[in-house]
Amino acid sequence: MMVKKSNLSKIGSLKVLLPFFTPYKKYFFIAVFSLVLAACATLAVPFCFRQIINLGFSSSSSSQINATFINLFLVACAVAFSTALRFYMVSWLGERITSDIKKAVYEHVLYQSPEFFETTQSGEILSRINTDTTLIQTLVGTSVSMAIRNALLLIGGLVMMFITSAKLSLFILVMLLLTVIPTMILGRRVRKLSKNSQDKIADASALAGEKLNAISTIQSFTNESSETKLFNQYVETSFITARVRNLARANLTFIAIFLGFSSIILILWLGAYAVTRNEMSSGELTQFILYTVIVAGAIAVVAEVIGDTQRAIGASERLLELLQLNSGIKNPITPKSLPSLPAQGIHLAIQNLSFRYASNPNAVLSNVSFEINPGERVAIVGPSGAGKTSLFQLLLRFYDPQSGTIKLNGIDIKDMNLQELRKLIGIVPQDVVIFSTNALENIRYGKEDATDEEVFHAANLAAADEFITRLPDGYQTFLGDRGMRLSGGQKQRIVIARALLKNPPLLLLDEATSALDAESEHLVQQALEVAMKNRTTLVIAHRLSTVKQADRIIVLEHGRIIETGTHASLIDQGGLYSNLAKLQFTDN
Ligand SMILES: Nc1ncnc2c1ncn2[C@@H]1O[C@H](COP(=O)(O)OP(=O)(O)OP(=O)(O)O)[C@@H](O)[C@H]1O
Ligand SMILES: [Mg+2]
Repeated sequence: MMVKKSNLSKIGSLKVLLPFFTPYKKYFFIAVFSLVLAACATLAVPFCFRQIINLGFSSSSSSQINATFINLFLVACAVAFSTALRFYMVSWLGERITSDIKKAVYEHVLYQSPEFFETTQSGEILSRINTDTTLIQTLVGTSVSMAIRNALLLIGGLVMMFITSAKLSLFILVMLLLTVIPTMILGRRVRKLSKNSQDKIADASALAGEKLNAISTIQSFTNESSETKLFNQYVETSFITARVRNLARANLTFIAIFLGFSSIILILWLGAYAVTRNEMSSGELTQFILYTVIVAGAIAVVAEVIGDTQRAIGASERLLELLQLNSGIKNPITPKSLPSLPAQGIHLAIQNLSFRYASNPNAVLSNVSFEINPGERVAIVGPSGAGKTSLFQLLLRFYDPQSGTIKLNGIDIKDMNLQELRKLIGIVPQDVVIFSTNALENIRYGKEDATDEEVFHAANLAAADEFITRLPDGYQTFLGDRGMRLSGGQKQRIVIARALLKNPPLLLLDEATSALDAESEHLVQQALEVAMKNRTTLVIAHRLSTVKQADRIIVLEHGRIIETGTHASLIDQGGLYSNLAKLQFTDN
């Protein structure tokens, strides 16, 4: 489970849904109105029947006959109209609120810090958005209305029964108690089981989601059958949990309906004797029969709705957990903004920065300090795992350091609005991301309002134009799921174009050219030369040919800066850098 279990009271957890109702008060009242109207009209039907039967047709005047039938007709019209209106309004509310909840959950998740995604599988989030909201839709769109309608019918029917025959009705009350108690006990069990079953479904779809993304790895290791087995296990577990839940629910339904009907049959039995003893008229018995049928039906439905409600309570508990999670990375209450956007790039100052990930006790960065002047180009090199990418993560404020500060033009990034900060930074990440859309839109992702010409220009700068125009549909070519139709180097150039389109004063390149051949690297390198003008650039690279041109090189090892200088001066120092350089440049 992604979060600790909250100990909210059961019905109380539905409170999370209240804010979603507020904008639709008007519709809610229409729905409730039509609901009450429908229930009242239904309750009036047996009453009309009694009138008709007690009339004794032969002895009545035609005007009386007409009046009673017109009454019944009007009641029927009211039942038809209010039932249709109720159905529409209540379903509308259900769909509307579910859509709003989905949007809210998705938006909330999008603003979470990376730490959230380290501990939560995306399949689990999807299941929250889909399965849990569907349960709530059932609750709002059907169950609540059924519950209210049938509760009204139950109460109204009972009242009318008491009016018709208090003695018979007393029996029914006793029987009711005998029905309700076992129903409640079983209902509680169903609720517990349905939470269980939802979790199992989420597990299975999370697993499938992850594995489908790695299909070529599965196939290259020929692990299809073991993956199938694993998934089958998950699905079987979720089937078994669902079966146990449904069995409990079936028991619940059986007991509710059986006890409900039994008690009613018993009462009718007694009623038949009452009529023979002339204690009630046959019209009254008809009315009583119809009311008992309504009450029996209502009891059955209420029992079923209790099950639905309990499933929805489980669902809203989980959504509540999700909506209550707050990103560890917070916007300052009164953010400071940069005086004016620098034309020459931005000044970056890092002071005594120390950082470790929450999930890992080892320090990733220890006491790192350096400064970069506007427009300067600085390379960061160092062995794998030295903390280079982590440093970029801190610059983007995906994580907050345990100590030390990062300042842009003198302002601590913690004091800046998060979105403003990230607008200043363009990044080409180590793991490139291509969306399943065309080349044009993939680059435009860097600046949503960019014109086509701006996109072409950025692609040109990134040496991507050359290969994109040779694709079957040029810039309109669909790049496949996660850019599957592109080579590694092509993907990198698309992502570089995306970052350049953003035109940020601070550019971060994390192994941006690692997948390129020497010639393309040279091309992109040249393009980046131009692109790096007038902005501050931080380049991470393993290939030292890439970093040779940098104004300054920072060598990072085990999260500490061990050397700084130009290529030439570092070679002279004969430290780690010169060793790396020897390996790379004298190899052939
Ligand atoms: N999200 C994370 N949670 C916990 N530990 C992490 C996380 N990301 C990275 N680390 C750890 O932090 C250390 C530094 O990782 P980082 O990605 O910064 O290295 P790097 O210098 O970029 O390496 P490379 O050159 O291989 O890309 C590694 O030991 C890694 O295991
Ligand atoms: Mg890295």
